[in-house]
Parts: sequence; structure tokens; C-alpha cells
Amino acid sequence: VNPELARAESLIREIADYPEPGILFRDITPLLADAEALRVTTAALLEPFTGTFDVVAGIEARGFLLAGAAAIAAGVGLVPIRKAGKLPRPAASVDYALEYGTATIEMHDDLPAGTRVLLIDDVLATGGTLAAGRRLVEQLGCVVAGISVLFEIDGLGGRELTGDLHTVFRSA
Ligand code: PRP
Ligand code: MG
Repeated sequence: VNPELARAESLIREIADYPEPGILFRDITPLLADAEALRVTTAALLEPFTGTFDVVAGIEARGFLLAGAAAIAAGVGLVPIRKAGKLPRPAASVDYALEYGTATIEMHDDLPAGTRVLLIDDVLATGGTLAAGRRLVEQLGCVVAGISVLFEIDGLGGRELTGDLHTVFRSA
């Protein structure tokens, strides 16, 4: 085990009963606030994908925090995948299920067809968000080069829903 990564993982704070009773929230803000932890986790997010993607796409909101760092580290551009109503000219929308209700994410059509996109988010739970992100990228004629997530919560079916993905940390 890489000691720098283990130290970064120790900075993820567990908050019980947030945002609802029974939910154990993984708060990555202490990790983000630590320069070395941010550097090593950004590198770990990118590590399996070297040379396989043209652009990074981050999913609003917490995915943005990692995608910007990853884009700079990889030397590529950044595309935001936003919640409905935030982009001025959305070219595609995908609805997905939440625990209660549904949500929608949208993306602009500024990438040439066939652009290889690395999808990035902070947490994988049910996988609904990243599965929707994959559909969105594909609807726009781009290719999902991979999905990379900082923290995987096991046992909620996320991996089954999204297909192949890379996660840096996972719940015990
Ligand atoms: C959280 C988290 C992931 C998603 C994971 O985002 O940041 O994007 O849930 O859950 P899933 O695998 O069950 O889809 P959320 O939409 O709660 O809010 P955010 O805007 O703070 O990122
Ligand atoms: Mg999110």
C-alpha cells in the first residue's frame, strides 16, 4: 500500500446520518484541503488511463473538484456535466434515478465526434449518476475512455450499473 495514498484516505471524514438518517456521508473536503493528498489522489485517479483519453468530464458538483485538478495534471481540457438548467445550450440530457425521485444531467456539444472522454466523480453509490454520465457522453457521439471515482461505496450495485470503472478507495 502506498503510504501517501493511505494518508490521503485517512483524511476522508465519515459523517453519520447526513444528509438523512441512516446515511454515512463520505466528506472529502479534508482530503481536498491537503496539498499532498490532493496531488496523490489526482495521480491515482488518472494512473490506469494514461494516453487513453482526450478530455476529462466532471459531474456537478463534487466531480468538478477533482476533474479540474485531473485535467491540469493530465494536460487535457475539462468539460462540465451539469445538473439540469445550468448550461445555456445543452445538447443532450439524461434522466436518472435517485433514492427518492429523479434528476437530470446535461452537457454541451463542443467535442468532435469520437472524442475520448474520461468521466470523473467523487463517490460511487448506486451508480445512477455515472451511468447517466456514460449515456450522455455516448449520446453526443463521444467515447467513454473510462470512469474514475475517488471513493466506491460497496454493496449498492454501483459497479454493476456503470460497467467497468476504476476507484481509488472503497468502503470496507
Ligand atoms: C453524489 C456524489 C455522486 C453521486 C453518487 O452527488 O457526488 O455524484 O451522489 O451517487 P449514485 O452513485 O447513487 O448516483 P449528489 O448528486 O448528491 O450531489 P453533488 O452535487 O454534491 O455532487
Ligand atoms: Mg455528485
